[in-house]
Amino acid sequence: MTTLAVHADQPVEGLPLVLLHAFPLDSRMWEPVVELLPGIPVVRIDAPGFGDTPPRGEPGLEAYARDVVVAIRELGADQAVVAGLSMGGYVAMAIAEATPGVLAGIGLLSTKAAADAEPARAKRYEMAADVERGKTDVALPMLDGLLGQTSRQSRPDLVDSVREQLRTAPAAGIAWAQRSMAARPDRLAGLSASPEGLPALVLRGAEDTLMSDDDAAAMADALGVEVVEIAAAGHLVALEDPESVAGALAALYRECAT
Ligand code: MLT
Repeated sequence: MTTLAVHADQPVEGLPLVLLHAFPLDSRMWEPVVELLPGIPVVRIDAPGFGDTPPRGEPGLEAYARDVVVAIRELGADQAVVAGLSMGGYVAMAIAEATPGVLAGIGLLSTKAAADAEPARAKRYEMAADVERGKTDVALPMLDGLLGQTSRQSRPDLVDSVREQLRTAPAAGIAWAQRSMAARPDRLAGLSASPEGLPALVLRGAEDTLMSDDDAAAMADALGVEVVEIAAAGHLVALEDPESVAGALAALYRECAT
């Protein structure tokens, strides 16, 4: 049985669209997008230690990915369209590598296939250790990187909301996720080995400073699709422009469901 909290905002019948959230947010991140996807059986999942999913000691995105597959099976589905934003994308790619047959389609938003360079990995371990030592507000410095310049300048409510989510991000989840992301391998070869013609979406905010054009292009090349770039949005494009993200996910879903 899955230990993950699985949230369905409507009855799940037929092919589910599974949404995996960014770090250090939780599945509520997807709510503005889900509201714009009536009629699609969307499922939002909380990562270990976030939202309603209990913390996990052992780090590893691969175990989380296996648990997502268990959750899909428990919904009575053989396959799902799995879309993840940033950390959620890392997990979608782990599923693509380990259990490609479960994917009817894949959505990779604000993410990358590359592993971390050593300095980034060291910073993750440092944050994990800090938060376990009881240091507070460790995720707050991420705020500027998570939102695009346009949102930071013109959306004070969104800035406040994301700041609050960073301030209240759970310590156990932060430590688990940072160690898990630090240990993740490069997944470009795994992505390139995806079944020919797998419906795929690679999407980025044009103002994302955390994931580059090249990161998106590499994943798009591996999957044989074009990058969808959303203007005036940054890393948390699903919060910054839910309409465009919902439109792109609906198009991906339609391609998978036909
Ligand atoms: C995220 O948004 O999930 C994070 O920025 C991912 C990361 O830290 O690599």
